[in-house]
Amino acid sequence: MTAVDYVPHRGGLAALRRAAADCHGCELYKDATQTVFGEGPADARLFLVGEQPGDREDVEGAPFVGPAGKLLDRALVDAGIDRAEVYLTNAVKHFKFTLPERGKRRIHKKPGQGEVSACRPWLLAELDRVEPELVVLLGATAASALLGSGFRLTRHRGEIVELEQGVPAVATVHPSAVLRAPDREAAYQGLVADLTVAARHQA
Ligand code: URA
Ligand code: SF4
Repeated sequence: MTAVDYVPHRGGLAALRRAAADCHGCELYKDATQTVFGEGPADARLFLVGEQPGDREDVEGAPFVGPAGKLLDRALVDAGIDRAEVYLTNAVKHFKFTLPERGKRRIHKKPGQGEVSACRPWLLAELDRVEPELVVLLGATAASALLGSGFRLTRHRGEIVELEQGVPAVATVHPSAVLRAPDREAAYQGLVADLTVAARHQA
């Protein structure tokens, strides 16, 4: 299964967003509340890609509005990037989760390669409409979506690489990984350092 048949060939971001609301390109639409499409200016120079919406994002319908989003906001400020000027999206547009027990909080489940591939047509369509100067890949899932599963984040984070689409990109850790890191401050500073590479590249 794939989203390809749902993606309109014509129209801008607004047309994509409308069509994505009805995507059945994989199974994830069934249990999630709504499609969480990318957000930001159509002429953004920086294009940031996360993994998939979390619990908050699923409820609110907007990317990076939960705890990982708060951390990302702070890191962007520290790297000298204005969130209002970047386009922010996810590799996968529906929240994948498990319900461990009745009444318990929904637990985020990492999307598989099948879901990442199924959803990639949306990501490529967003990239095509925004035409950014630089793409920032937040975490291994985003990196695998645009650089392939052979890309080694630990080895190549913070390096400017070229996407198949002819756009430069830089990969870094996911903000959620910073929240889980044993040395949170060091992980946070690493994220800020990589975002600073992105800020300088497009300056
Ligand atoms: N994590 C992500 O990768 N994306 C979001 O939108 C929120 C949390
Ligand atoms: Fe479509 Fe992506 Fe949602 Fe799957 S996750 S239904 S491909 S928008």
